[in-house]
Amino acid sequence: MKQFLITGGAGFIGSALVRYLINETDHRVLVVDKLSYAGNLASLASVSQNTRFAYEQVDICDRPELDRVLKHYKPDCIMHLAAESHVDRSIDGPIAFIETNIVGTYQLLEAARSYWNAMADERKKSFIFHHISTDEVFGDLHDEASFFTETTPYAPSSPYSATKASSDHLVRAWLRTYGLPVVVTNCSNNYGPCHFPEKLIPLTIINALAGKALPVYGNGQQVRDWLYVEDHARALYAVVNSGKVGENYNIGGHNERKNIEVIETICALLEELAADRKPAGLTNYRDLITYVADRPGHDQRYAIDASKIARELGWTPQETFESGLRKTVIWYLDNPNWWQAILDDRYHGERLGLSQ
Ligand code: NAD
Ligand code: TYD
Repeated sequence: MKQFLITGGAGFIGSALVRYLINETDHRVLVVDKLSYAGNLASLASVSQNTRFAYEQVDICDRPELDRVLKHYKPDCIMHLAAESHVDRSIDGPIAFIETNIVGTYQLLEAARSYWNAMADERKKSFIFHHISTDEVFGDLHDEASFFTETTPYAPSSPYSATKASSDHLVRAWLRTYGLPVVVTNCSNNYGPCHFPEKLIPLTIINALAGKALPVYGNGQQVRDWLYVEDHARALYAVVNSGKVGENYNIGGHNERKNIEVIETICALLEELAADRKPAGLTNYRDLITYVADRPGHDQRYAIDASKIARELGWTPQETFESGLRKTVIWYLDNPNWWQAILDDRYHGERLGLSQ
């Protein structure tokens, strides 16, 4: 039984990982999260009473607080997911991305290095710092035959991806220069339960139910490679357990879809699953589809070659896009309280009896 420290554990992917660790393993989990607009303790409600779960509201830019939690909880590994994660927000205001994704990662690396240096030899050997990153660091692809591999050069396009690329470089420098044992994963677009309502898939579901426009940026022909979030959680667990120090692993869903196809598929699922919730006067959910101005610097296509993690660690996704999207739409239909609290901005007030 190990002690995991998960930064960003109250976010979309972090909370799926924490639910996986508590429900499917015997490990203890400490969530370190500052609860930005994207952090939501309701996503951890199903595991928050478990005796193997703990939570500390800490900003990763706050070095003394990081030192305190490392000293107190003595983790065997750190899985670093805390980040500012929304491309559109990074275009509107890059500074928060520079602070959390670059400076925060630097502070966490330094806290981890000092903690690791002071560890007893046996535990020191098995300690690992797992940095969770994105395929967006590779920039975009323009022909259908190309895929991102672990050796694709970095060419980030947005302030978000540039700050994630910076953090990846810092993490590798801490291995090369200081010997800190690190592993890096770069994953494609995730989707599934507890996804913040301003991202494409939840936004489309929630806007459709409210009879609001479903915005398609530009021509809607951009391609993303979608991975169900629970498949990502399993991949992360495989890497933190069996990944090789110093390696990076690409994680992807083998599910390339154009944005317009994603939106149309959601509309078709809502026709099937929520015809009775259709707003008055609306004939078909797809009538809400609305083309809007394109995102500046919009990446055309992301597609991951995930053969290394399949070959070396035996991980492949369990969900197809069709099965995962159906589960996701059903989750949003069944859990309006989760997303309505966010829309009403009352979710941070709900502390759910967690220790802090
Ligand atoms: P998210 O925005 O849903 O969650 C981020 C979490 O980090 C939130 O709980 C937030 O409160 C916390 N956080 C933000 N700033 C913090 C700080 N300074 N200190 C402590 N906590 C802080 O993001 P997500 O979609 O769950 O992504 C998690 C990680 O995975 C990110 O590093 C992201 O770059 C990466 N990633 C995301 C995707 C995706 O499709 N969502 C794909 C590949 C990689
Ligand atoms: P998003 O969920 O923001 O993820 P990312 O930018 O990290 O890929 O967007 C996914 C794709 O959907 C991206 O190409 C932008 C597009 N998009 C829309 O067309 N309309 C929307 O309202 C949003 C939020 C995104």
